[in-house]
Amino acid sequence: MRLDKFICKSTSLSKPQALAAIHDGEVCVNGEIAQNEAMQVHENNLVTLNGSRLKARPFRYLLMHKPADTICSNIDERYPSVFNYVAVENVSELHIVGRLDADTTGLVLMTDDGRWSYNITVPSKQCEKCYRVGLSRPIAENVAALFKRGVQLQGEDTLTRPARLEVINPQEVLLTITEGKFHQVKRMFSAVGNRVVSLHREKIGAIQLDVPQGQWRYLTDDEVASFGDAQ
Ligand code: URA
Repeated sequence: MRLDKFICKSTSLSKPQALAAIHDGEVCVNGEIAQNEAMQVHENNLVTLNGSRLKARPFRYLLMHKPADTICSNIDERYPSVFNYVAVENVSELHIVGRLDADTTGLVLMTDDGRWSYNITVPSKQCEKCYRVGLSRPIAENVAALFKRGVQLQGEDTLTRPARLEVINPQEVLLTITEGKFHQVKRMFSAVGNRVVSLHREKIGAIQLDVPQGQWRYLTDDEVASFGDAQ
């Protein structure tokens, strides 16, 4: 991780304060005064601030059940931020792993570990996200085959990746996708002449939503490891 981030994660200093400490020569890495805030440091480097060793706080991994009319951003805008529901210290260090629209409910993952969240969001890792979708009209018979093959979304160069559709009843389906284009689920149904009237994320990889709306919990070690490569 970058040196300035490491300092923020191991002290109560803000980023500008961490930068000032580096520029004032107060920070050493392996006995040498650090010159560059962007240098990469790891747990096994000896990082000191005014002679005291710094140890970064462990990464945090949470899930929450997002209510409708909340937004996946750090700032309250038209609706309150989902971060208002999470009572942990230094909540501003957390980011959302795959945002949901304001009117979408369900499973949201949060972390301060960028490498871990990359594994979940990058399409090449094919991490499955499962959505329960309410539709304005009965699902047509050919949609499962179209989604399996991929559909063309407006403004995109490539077809959507193969997706799995399971019909619960004519106007309620489960859709599993492995990518996260902007408004992807709504645009996929629009591309086949239907309209999403309710959207709820139930599952990401092996993690199933299991807390009531507005509640959160830390992930277990096994859940964290299920996406591989956590730091
Ligand atoms: N796809 C959407 O259209 N909206 C979401 O919130 C998530 C996936």
